[in-house]
Amino acid sequence: MPLVRLTNVSRNFDLQWISIILSRMKKTNVQMKEHWNNIYASREVDTLAWYEEKPTPSLSLLAKCNIRKDDSVVDIGACASTFIDFLIEKQLTSIIAVDISEVALSKLQARLGKEKASRVKWIVDDVTDPKHINKLRDIAVWHDRALLHFLLEEDQKLTYFTTLKKIVKKEGYVIIAAFSLRGARRCNGLDVRNYDSQILTEDLGKKIALVEAFDYTYQMPSGDARPYVYTLFHRIGSS
Ligand SMILES: C[S@@+](CC[C@H](N)C(=O)[O-])C[C@H]1O[C@@H](n2cnc3c(N)ncnc32)[C@H](O)[C@@H]1O
Repeated sequence: MPLVRLTNVSRNFDLQWISIILSRMKKTNVQMKEHWNNIYASREVDTLAWYEEKPTPSLSLLAKCNIRKDDSVVDIGACASTFIDFLIEKQLTSIIAVDISEVALSKLQARLGKEKASRVKWIVDDVTDPKHINKLRDIAVWHDRALLHFLLEEDQKLTYFTTLKKIVKKEGYVIIAAFSLRGARRCNGLDVRNYDSQILTEDLGKKIALVEAFDYTYQMPSGDARPYVYTLFHRIGSS
């Protein structure tokens, strides 16, 4: 009897490890899309760990970009974010929302309603394997809050930055907010990479200069703290 118990314990232990290892294995692009679609299909947006009622730090950086109403602003990994609402409020005429999850974007469209949603260009695309966003040009502001840190593989990061450099215009701006070095190591069942402004400066290269960076601790709907680094870069030359 004790022997049987020991075997069961060890079997349960092995199964636990197998499930941890499987959950940490690299997900394919299709699995990532499913992962995000499942999250948005099963949860109310305002209960998500990254939901912000007002994207204050992003808006403070956007205010420094001196954009005109007809400048193009792209929100990469827009989710159902309220950042888009503020771009509409500012009456910008070229707002682009990109996400791998069509469920996320349709939730955002539904929340905005027909008239406001018609003022946004909607693109379902994977920034690590772009089919559409790489065709955009003359983007005045690239905004990404909380997408980049999910890209774990070097080739995914390379594609992300190559796309950014292809579509952001000379004198354009880049706003990136990611989990900071003292921030979370995992989010929503996925591992993340942590950032500071120096790492991002190296990733963006010499022709995209750091203008400003600050740490910002976001309070999740659960009340827990999530330390981010917010950065603003200015493109001073073409690649
Ligand atoms: C943590 S959420 C952040 C959402 C939003 N930016 C915000 O601040 O509320 C990350 C978003 O990135 C999207 N995403 C993840 N991987 C992506 C990829 N490879 N290409 C495009 N979007 C992606 C997810 O669907 C999700 O909506």
